[in-house]
Amino acid sequence: MSILSSTLSSNYSPQHHGTQKHNRSLYISIDSNAGSHPRAHRRQFLLLQMASTMLSLASASASASSLSMHDTLKGKVKLGSNGLSTGFVKTKSFGRVSMSIAVNVSRFEGITMAPPDPILGVSEAFKADTNDMKLNLGVGAYRTEELQPYVLEVVKKAENLMLQRGENKEYLPIEGLAAFNKATAELLFGADNPLLKEQKVATVQGLSGTGSLRLAAALIERYFPGAKVLISSPTWGNHKNIFNDARVPWSEYRYYDPKTVGLDFEGMIADIKDAPEGSFILLHGCAHNPTGIDPTPEQWEKIADVIQEKNHNPFFDVAYQGFASGSLDTDAASVRLFAARGMELFVAQSYSKNLGLYAERIGAMNVVCSSADAAVRVKSQLKRLARPMYSNPPIHGAKIVANVVGDPTLFNEWKVEMEMMAGRIKNVRQKLFDSLSAKDKSGKDWSFILKQIGMFSFTGLNIAQSENMTNKWHVYLTKDGRISLAGLSLAKCEYLADAIIDSFHNVS
Ligand SMILES: Cc1ncc(COP(=O)(O)O)c(C=O)c1O
Repeated sequence: MSILSSTLSSNYSPQHHGTQKHNRSLYISIDSNAGSHPRAHRRQFLLLQMASTMLSLASASASASSLSMHDTLKGKVKLGSNGLSTGFVKTKSFGRVSMSIAVNVSRFEGITMAPPDPILGVSEAFKADTNDMKLNLGVGAYRTEELQPYVLEVVKKAENLMLQRGENKEYLPIEGLAAFNKATAELLFGADNPLLKEQKVATVQGLSGTGSLRLAAALIERYFPGAKVLISSPTWGNHKNIFNDARVPWSEYRYYDPKTVGLDFEGMIADIKDAPEGSFILLHGCAHNPTGIDPTPEQWEKIADVIQEKNHNPFFDVAYQGFASGSLDTDAASVRLFAARGMELFVAQSYSKNLGLYAERIGAMNVVCSSADAAVRVKSQLKRLARPMYSNPPIHGAKIVANVVGDPTLFNEWKVEMEMMAGRIKNVRQKLFDSLSAKDKSGKDWSFILKQIGMFSFTGLNIAQSENMTNKWHVYLTKDGRISLAGLSLAKCEYLADAIIDSFHNVS
């Protein structure tokens, strides 16, 4: 009598009790011709105990889900609750015995660890840092001078109104809240824009800027198969993810010129010209993220010219309306310029920054069409795409926007608060420039910081320099050298200037 073999094998059975089961089996074969003599039983028992020990060792790193005994001949084994053999019940003759143990191995073994998000991962690293001087300039969220999150007073008022009115939480239609859709299109195009009266704009409420972009990407994938989206180099990190996940091909157009820390306008125009006719050209309506560099009004005209010449589709991402200049109208000028030319265009909107509604996920997708009839059809398809994705959008943020925009007093209060936020960012921008210019004796020109607008400043620091900012100075920023000025206070400008100067000059 001996253990003939033992094998550990892994198998995958697609159907097991109607579900998929992935298990590993340890097979142990025991050969015995012991007959029914009691001493033979004893030896057989010891052998099976050995086998059990092997099984338990094999399963030590995973939980045993079952132990099955195939008494291929006549032997019988009693199994304990732990799945291991504890003894014989009745034996006549023994022969080959095989046991198998199925251990649970996750069906997710093949799923690798995803890399941390380059922007949101920065906040996680910041939280883990215990240094008192730490500064989070990674995520684009407005902070007060005390570096605390800020809820707009006008938002609190709108929410109080909603409570007083006892508004319900019924489902919204797929396209969202009608009052919100009206308000958002009016804010974007101007309330008296003929496009709205002529009903040429298909507007649906989206899950903030990201969800609205994703919805448009789904529309492109379905109705413009093979069409390419051109995105600026660099751009907001999530743009590439959005089009990748929607299976929309994309490539980049030149935008940032490291030599001037400004706009590579010639490169941009050349790349848009070179794109296959009918491409979608993704443009940041204002406050380009991450560079903070926007085209001038004259440059916008030229961009519109070349897009029209090549029969491309302009696709605006407007995430900072009112936040860049402090004026809702000024920041919508690029979109309105294209719309005034009678061009069909896509515009995604977000209320994360300008109303501080980051977590409410409120935004919109607008498609300007050349006829009211086309707008109705496009809207019907946007709804059709939204329904299986998220069914219908959330109500809370939509009501806040509709209440603020729909009430002249609240609307004016919002504008004042928006100017205050944009103003605070302009002040820290100026102070940072002043500190850099005063402290840096190398003669480097830091004026690009003043030329940039919006929440961000693209410092021109490379990856190693950005890492020095974090590792040595506890200043958290994205690896592309972008800092969010909305997360900076006047009090911290000098410290930040020291960190930038050290990283710029002492790290290559
Ligand atoms: C350029 C750009 N587009 C869209 C968004 C979308 O933001 P959200 O989905 O929070 O509205 C952002 C946010 O940072 C952005 O910078």
